[in-house]
Amino acid sequence: MMSFFLRTIVLLLFLSLNLFGTFASLTPNLCPLDQRDALIDLKTEFKIRKPDEFLDYDASWANSSSDCCNWEGVTCDTKSGKVIGLDLSCSCLHGRLEPNSSLFRLQHLKSLNLAYNNFTLSPIPDKFNKLIWLETLNLSESSLKGHVPIELLQLTNLVSLDLSSSSSASNSYFAPPPTLLLSIENPPLFLPLLARNLRNLRALDMSSVNISSEIPQEFSYMSSLRSLHLKNWELPVFSINNSMQVLSLLETSFSESSFSGRIPSSLGELSNLSSLVLFFKWFHW
Ligand SMILES: *[C@@H]1O[C@H](CO)[C@@H](O)[C@H](O)[C@H]1NC(C)=O
Ligand SMILES: *[C@@H]1O[C@H](CO)[C@@H](O)[C@H](O)[C@H]1NC(C)=O
Ligand SMILES: *[C@@H]1O[C@H](CO)[C@@H](O)[C@H](O)[C@H]1NC(C)=O
Ligand SMILES: *[C@@H]1O[C@H](CO)[C@@H](O)[C@H](O)[C@H]1NC(C)=O
Ligand SMILES: *[C@@H]1O[C@H](CO)[C@@H](O)[C@H](O)[C@H]1NC(C)=O
Ligand SMILES: *[C@@H]1O[C@H](CO)[C@@H](O)[C@H](O)[C@H]1NC(C)=O
Ligand SMILES: *[C@@H]1O[C@H](CO)[C@@H](O)[C@H](O)[C@H]1NC(C)=O
Repeated sequence: MMSFFLRTIVLLLFLSLNLFGTFASLTPNLCPLDQRDALIDLKTEFKIRKPDEFLDYDASWANSSSDCCNWEGVTCDTKSGKVIGLDLSCSCLHGRLEPNSSLFRLQHLKSLNLAYNNFTLSPIPDKFNKLIWLETLNLSESSLKGHVPIELLQLTNLVSLDLSSSSSASNSYFAPPPTLLLSIENPPLFLPLLARNLRNLRALDMSSVNISSEIPQEFSYMSSLRSLHLKNWELPVFSINNSMQVLSLLETSFSESSFSGRIPSSLGELSNLSSLVLFFKWFHW
């Protein structure tokens, strides 16, 4: 009798351990329902379009009852299961990126790549400031247009920000100069705030953002910055022990005569620099 009782206890213990083990291995990967719903809603906001065909999302997105952590481009936190990474680069998304997009419900995102999509010249929504955990934001080549919202500067965890677009480096000499899609509305306010708020920034690409101003002295205090791509040649003087490794400056002009533009002398202070690109392009058409 006693031994039966004991065996039952042992068996029960074994079963519950086993069950616990099963739960423990399942729960970490289960996408929370609110996050899954946000992803499903996001899917309805854009068409998928290649130049002459309409496509569907990656097949892994088709089954809404499957674990969204296994969907193409989705990364979940291994402990909480929350969606922390979304890579929809080169997904041929086509449509406006609206401020009410369900993208902004994915509030645990640390990494977001929307590069190489076509947001049909919609503005960058100021609602990006809801994604406060973002460390990487990549909006390169995504046909966004207008002022870069100052709310982006609330993303103080950013390590990498890419707002680039190759149109400004068009290789056709005879094409009229491209108008830059993105611009800074109030550089004397925006740029020093950027330097002050985004203290963790290591990589900044604003090479195709129209900044009609010099780059302020505050930029030289961004001690984490390793890589900087700008359209402007007028730079502040950096301190001799700054950590810049990659610098690319792109100057476009309407006349050949201004090719005499001077190379900023402050470059001499960039003692850790390993790559320097000074790009000068003039247009005659
Ligand atoms: C959808 O995913 C669920 C959970 O993984 C699975 O049980 C079901 O068979 C899948 N349905 C289809 C049509 O693949
Ligand atoms: C989001 O805003 C757009 C434009 O204002 C509107 O057409 C659309 O219905 C809204 N979507 C949702 C889900 O509220
Ligand atoms: C984006 O889509 C529009 C049509 O809505 C098209 O005219 C434009 O060329 C596309 N842009 C790119 C970069 O493919
Ligand atoms: C942004 O994404 C594109 C496409 O995936 C990639 O080529 C580029 O290097 C990314 N930018 C940064 C700063 O990582
Ligand atoms: C940049 O912005 C200025 C001021 O708004 C404008 O005059 C200029 O044409 C713009 N440059 C480009 C290349 O878009
Ligand atoms: C940079 O060098 C200056 C003096 O040249 C020194 O005062 C400062 O502490 C140094 N900063 C760092 C981060 O090493
Ligand atoms: C410059 O590079 C050297 C060698 O990689 C490194 O030891 C040093 O810390 C760097 N200086 C700064 C200011 O990042």
